[in-house]
Amino acid sequence: MKASKPDPIDGPSRRNFLKVSGAALLSSSLLDRVARAAVARVAPGAFARGDETLKVALIGCGGRGGGAAAQALSTAGPVKLVALADAFRDRAEGTLKNLMAGHAAQIDVPPDRVHVGFDAYKAAIDACDVAVLTAPPGFRPQHFEYAVAQGKHVFMEKPVATDAAGVRRVLAAAAVAKQKNLKVGVGLQRHYDPGYVEVVKRVQDGAIGDVMFQRVYWCDGGVWVNPRQPGQSEMEYQMRNWYYFNWLCGDHIVEQHIHNLDVANWVKNATPIRARGHGGRQVRTGIDHGEIFDHHQVEFDYADGSKLFSYCHHWPGAWSSVSEHAHGTKGYADLSGQRIEGGKAWQFGRGRGEEGNDPYQREHDVLFDAIRNDKPHHEANYGATSTMTAIMGRMATYSGKEIGWDEALQSSENLFPEVLDWKANPRSMPDASGRYKIARPGGAASS
Ligand SMILES: NC(=O)c1ccc[n+]([C@@H]2O[C@H](COP(=O)([O-])OP(=O)(O)OC[C@H]3O[C@@H](n4cnc5c(N)ncnc54)[C@H](O)[C@@H]3O)[C@@H](O)[C@H]2O)c1
Repeated sequence: MKASKPDPIDGPSRRNFLKVSGAALLSSSLLDRVARAAVARVAPGAFARGDETLKVALIGCGGRGGGAAAQALSTAGPVKLVALADAFRDRAEGTLKNLMAGHAAQIDVPPDRVHVGFDAYKAAIDACDVAVLTAPPGFRPQHFEYAVAQGKHVFMEKPVATDAAGVRRVLAAAAVAKQKNLKVGVGLQRHYDPGYVEVVKRVQDGAIGDVMFQRVYWCDGGVWVNPRQPGQSEMEYQMRNWYYFNWLCGDHIVEQHIHNLDVANWVKNATPIRARGHGGRQVRTGIDHGEIFDHHQVEFDYADGSKLFSYCHHWPGAWSSVSEHAHGTKGYADLSGQRIEGGKAWQFGRGRGEEGNDPYQREHDVLFDAIRNDKPHHEANYGATSTMTAIMGRMATYSGKEIGWDEALQSSENLFPEVLDWKANPRSMPDASGRYKIARPGGAASS
């Protein structure tokens, strides 16, 4: 199969849901700039027949990267891993060792294709047909842009950026990917969970009447901390402890709660037009907790007048829930529980653990099938607008002010360091006591 005409549609209809096209909101000059910067060709071998080997490169060799690479290697048809890239050698080599244990026959990664450092992504992407992008999300725009410029298919994890500048870069590169007929998958795997697909379709088809409001939660005890080590530069410390720095992580409303916000957008077939919220740091205030909040509550408005109530916290010992719920004029849908009460009552019949239902594997199966059989597959737009929804929520909680979609998307906020180097300083630096400025709703940041 070879590169063919641009796709007439935006992807499978259930995912072609965004009433607001993010790309349409970009200035044409930005699009032009990215399009010109992109290499106009699709790399030879980027498309494969069913029996041709697809070469995969892994960029970002952590927990998810190891899993995503294994899933890519488990798709139908010949696939091999040809290159790895990570900021740190120990992470790249550790993941390679783990992958060798389960997939040795599919791994062709000599030492000179284990790339390390901030520029490592380039050589790894150059060597592949399909780039798996699983570094911390702050790097996603840079890595995605490069992969698209080189004519590579992409699987990239959510979120796809940590600030509006990054979202705009991803939307612009997504438009180029579409022009080049490159296939792009995004790791919002609920779209590949058969129970979610069914319950969302039923709600969209009117099973609970008109959806008046939704509630979504990512409330749990939080994640790992990598404390500062003697001799680390500030850049290395932030990179190792990336969850707590916004340029890398985006705060947990972006990094994790995106999954739940994305489901709400999927149900509504739209992105919110406005947000207002509360947030702060009440429990997670240690010296290694960087600059992020430990709770956010956001009320989003959709253009049809419906509301989305979003809650996330990282509070050990508090109540917990990772779930989504839709309330309609005729009933209630527990989206995460995959059942409907009232209206047209229903319960998903098959277990999530059943063979063939693993959404992490299915998202790779569908992407690789699209590559081999030239099926439309363009998930970057909804990956970017769901990321932007979460960033808009963070803007609302950090500022304490109501914010609209256009203002958020066009924000000049750019968190990425001016210089990427182990000795360079990130934009957010600690004070003499090792503390960072924390956003203060309604006023200036405090430390
Ligand atoms: N879809 C899901 O359910 C799911 C689950 C877990 C993680 N994720 C996503 O996967 C991404 C990675 O998360 P993780 O848990 O694997 O984190 P991780 O810390 O385990 O792995 C990230 C890796 O990227 C490396 N890295 C950092 N900067 C890099 C750069 N510039 N170039 C190349 N490599 C770089 C790090 O050294 C590390 O090895 C995040 O975006 C996260 O949100 C998604």
